[in-house]
Formats: sequence, C-alpha cells, structure tokens
Amino acid sequence: MTGRFITLEGVDGAGKSTHIEWLVQTLRAHGLDVVSTREPGGTPLGERLRTLLLSEPMGLDTETLLMFAARCEHVQQVIAPALARGAWVVCDRYTDATYAYQGGGRELGAARVAALEQWLQPALRPDLTWLFDVPLEVARARMAGERQLDRFEQEGQAFFERTRQAYHARVQADPERIHVIDASQPLAAVRAALEADLQRFLAGAA
Ligand code: TYD
Repeated sequence: MTGRFITLEGVDGAGKSTHIEWLVQTLRAHGLDVVSTREPGGTPLGERLRTLLLSEPMGLDTETLLMFAARCEHVQQVIAPALARGAWVVCDRYTDATYAYQGGGRELGAARVAALEQWLQPALRPDLTWLFDVPLEVARARMAGERQLDRFEQEGQAFFERTRQAYHARVQADPERIHVIDASQPLAAVRAALEADLQRFLAGAA
C-alpha cells in the first residue's frame, strides 16, 4: 500500500483535535507508518511562523503569504518526503484552511489563494479531508473557558460564518475528497461516523 495524505479541517471549536490522536493510533494499529503534523507549523521554521501568525497583528496579504511560506517548508521537508517513502500523513489543517480563513473569513477571496496554491504545490492535494462542521453556538460553547484565545478565535460571528461558508464552498467544489462530519453530535456519534468513513477509505486504499 502506498502513502495517503489525510487532512482535518473545521472552524475553531469544532473539536477536530479530539479525534486526531485516535486517527493516528487507528492507522498505526493497521500497521501503517504514520506522520502526524499540523499547519501552520510542522517544521522548526513553520512553528516559529505559527507563533507569529497566532499572536502578531499583521496585514491580510502578509498573513496569507506567511501561511503559504510555512506550508512551503512543510511540504518540502515533511509531507512530500513522507509520502514518497510510503508513509501516511495526517495533517491538522492544510490549504483548505487558507481558503476558509483568509479567503472567506478575512474576505481575500478564493482566487488569490488559488494562485498561491498553484504556484507552490499544484500536485500535492489531500486524498481525504474531514471537515468538522458545527454551528456558531456549539463552537462558542466548546471554546468557552479554554486557554487564552488566539487571533483567529477572537474574531466575531460574521468572520465565523464566512469561514464556515467558505469551507462549504470547498466541499461543493470537491465533494469526493472532502467529507463533512456533523461535529455537533455527541463525541461517541462523531467517532462512530469517523470510524465508518475510515473503514471505507481504507478499503478503497488497499
Ligand atoms: P488550530 O489548528 O485551531 O490549533 P489549536 O487547536 O491549537 O487552536 O489553530 C490554527 C489557527 O490558524 C486556526 O484558527 C486557523 C488558522 N489558520 C488560518 O487562518 N489559515 C491557514 O491556512 C491555517 C493552516 C490555519
């Protein structure tokens, strides 16, 4: 079996982090070599860029370019080499997040994001993406009482709705790849949905 690239996406507070460790362990239990990573980040430079991106005020173009700068390092140093040796890569957010947050949330539009994507990694698309989808109230409730909120989590309702909508536009454009997970359900129900979807994916990948 050759490597596969799986990404997890969703608005802040959707609860995707809860499921990443489970996914990685499940794939490893199938005997697969799994690399677990995240964006922005995943390399020493990328993690430094992440710190800036989550805390430092900056213009929208700067923010978008830094997201892609971090991604460029990540693809070259981690993701592409892992896939090339046959490993599976599980990544907490990827380019869909830039379409959603910068393209939608911050209203940059999809065309600019597409241009950068085309420039940097035209061939490297995820094989499967889980979009953890929740309405605003659920997301807010899950974030309440959490550690200090970062620059994106501090944004208001309109930003949240635009981000969520842009994620759904990605699903419309690529429904084969992006599977919407109703993450407003109780954890056990979300897990069951993921398990069923993963079994189908593993069967197809065999
Ligand atoms: P997140 O993945 O939610 O991590 P944590 O669970 O530690 O909060 O945080 C990353 C933030 O970065 C999230 O708010 C979305 C944002 N982001 C973008 O705006 N654009 C991107 O391209 C990526 C990858 C992330």
